[in-house]
Amino acid sequence: MAQTLRKIGLSLGADVCWPICFEELFKKLDFKAQIGQDEVRCSVDRVTIEPFDLRQECRYDLVIDRLTHWYQPSREWIKKAILVNDLYVFNNPWSLQSMEKQTSYCAMMRLGFPVPDTWLIPPKEYAPSPDLQPTLERYAQLFDLSSVGEKLGYPLFMKPYDGGGWVGVTKIDSAEDLEAAYEESGRSVMHLQKGVVPYDCFVRCIGLGPQVKIVRYDPGAPLHERYEIASQFVTDEETRLLQETTLTINTFFGWDFNSCEAIRKDGVFHPFDFANACPDSQVTSLHYHFPWLIKANLRWALFCATSRRRMRKNLDWGPFFDIADEDRPFREKLSAYACLARERLEMDRFQEFCDEHLSNLDETAWEFFGSEMVKDAIRQKVTALFPTHEVDEFTEMFWQKIQRWRDAEGATAETLEMNRFGES
Ligand SMILES: Nc1ncnc2c1ncn2[C@@H]1O[C@H](COP(=O)(O)OP(=O)(O)O)[C@@H](O)[C@H]1O
Ligand SMILES: [Mg+2]
Repeated sequence: MAQTLRKIGLSLGADVCWPICFEELFKKLDFKAQIGQDEVRCSVDRVTIEPFDLRQECRYDLVIDRLTHWYQPSREWIKKAILVNDLYVFNNPWSLQSMEKQTSYCAMMRLGFPVPDTWLIPPKEYAPSPDLQPTLERYAQLFDLSSVGEKLGYPLFMKPYDGGGWVGVTKIDSAEDLEAAYEESGRSVMHLQKGVVPYDCFVRCIGLGPQVKIVRYDPGAPLHERYEIASQFVTDEETRLLQETTLTINTFFGWDFNSCEAIRKDGVFHPFDFANACPDSQVTSLHYHFPWLIKANLRWALFCATSRRRMRKNLDWGPFFDIADEDRPFREKLSAYACLARERLEMDRFQEFCDEHLSNLDETAWEFFGSEMVKDAIRQKVTALFPTHEVDEFTEMFWQKIQRWRDAEGATAETLEMNRFGES
């Protein structure tokens, strides 16, 4: 029997808590899998930044990357490693680089999703360039901003066409507000988007490979309370709809790890921000939901590395558009997109892998998230974010929320155990 080792690299920036928990839980798992004639083990370490030869070997089989969206040296090292060395990466760097919010809106409109009506407007100001003047003089039409505002109706949201991180987002209630916000927008190219208001439910759907978690979200709450600990806030059919929406979006764009924001108005969920390909992963945002993320990330990373899943380098949108062009209701198309997504994500093989090789994950994680190691990881993250006099209080608060998760998990495990023995 041959022994093989698959190497997982973490390409990190300011991340503190999730890599510690990922690495330590991984150690506790003592993971090994019998694949054919081989006994496969994995290792996890952190990717360093250094000069590289474009032809050099890559020591990793899989990299979980958190830098591509802003740090070019790592992005270019990753692109080289995918092309030259067949590396698997969360997330596809080309897709991240080129799929701004605008692209994601257009593509999902084409698939039939109820994305709110959105316009793109030319910027208020430009960086000087030799061709600018003749281009604008010849082709730029004078436009009446308020007529776009009227077409969309108020309130509307002005936000950067490639936005993220809540930068430059303004709620606009009138033509005067619109004019003032445009004056302020400077060189940014902006979207104007119909406000989905009043809404009665705001969700963030976190997708990691075929795994999806739907969390209710309150954008008006302080940062550490935005992800809510609510349950049963959507029906079973809405759960399926949101899962299928997330799987479709993530697979369409080749994002292994992404979060999709949607708001419900009059019974319809409108996805409106779903190009978040470096999503929240910190305990200080996710708190109660943090263990889910660590477990889901570990499962998908170990599956991809161990099974030698090949990364889809080309996105291949044809099959999605073929479904979009069929003459049937959107809800049926969505199920067909999701079916394609599940195939591409090898859902069945992944589930078998988890049953066979990760049956100890739940119990090990439950123990682990009650350990001093986790409390210390929380403290490190809190120390990096909060003023010194609040460190104790917030460390304790996030710790308690994770203990709440453990209580709930423990109760679920007991229920499952009882059900297995025919009790209820
Ligand atoms: N069309 C909309 N309807 C209602 N609220 C919106 C809309 N667009 C944005 N918002 C509000 O503005 C916030 C930021 O907008 P979003 O599109 O999520 O930008 P970012 O990519 O910066 O997170 C959202 O969380 C939401 O509260
Ligand atoms: Mg957002």
